[in-house]
Amino acid sequence: MAGGDNKDIWIIANWKSNKTIAEALEWISIVGPQIPKNNPNLKVFVCPPFTDLEEVKKAVMVGNFNLMVGSQDLSPFGEGSFTGEEAAREIAQFASLAILGHSERRKNFGETNEMVADKTKQALANNITPLVCVAGADIPVPEGCKLVAFEPLFAIGTGNPATPEDAQKVALEIKRRCGPEVEVLYGGSVNPQNVASFIRQHDISGVLVATASLDPNEFLNILKNYETD
Ligand code: PGA
Repeated sequence: MAGGDNKDIWIIANWKSNKTIAEALEWISIVGPQIPKNNPNLKVFVCPPFTDLEEVKKAVMVGNFNLMVGSQDLSPFGEGSFTGEEAAREIAQFASLAILGHSERRKNFGETNEMVADKTKQALANNITPLVCVAGADIPVPEGCKLVAFEPLFAIGTGNPATPEDAQKVALEIKRRCGPEVEVLYGGSVNPQNVASFIRQHDISGVLVATASLDPNEFLNILKNYETD
């Protein structure tokens, strides 16, 4: 479902470069059992560092939690002589979604729109849903990408979110450019207090949460509050 009243709701935790395996498993043991199982439109993902992916995936499967696993990146290349890279075929063993083109990768690691497009191709070829992050509606969304996160730079990790109305305007513009079937998430200083104000917007289908996802109880409060006003 792409929008309207019965839209999908994606709530995605991006842990960035945080958490050892032990810390990751503790989080899963607290959050996993409390994720509701009665809402088929609710899609909750956790995106740990690569080093935690295997153990997190195992813990989610053993617990039979309504939680899916994503990665925070993947290689723009296929398998081969690319030292240090994580090919999509390897990531697909554990993750069914990949955050691509996050602004921190664009800024700190020189990631270009072309690289994001190559990563999107690799994800799609390996049955991984690409979630492409853009700082505005003018940033290109690669072909085949149906899930986009609008993350304004001023809002990331600052405690200063966009207004829900501004985020709605950008989400609508992204859909106008990319197609109505594209689902748009908002990211940037989402917390338990403001999550519902974003989800309520007609063209926003969820949130990408970093800072407020690290503490399991804060993340659980986001899951509790996303439908309330
Ligand atoms: P934040 O980061 O939730 O800490 O603002 C969001 C993101 O970078 O995806």
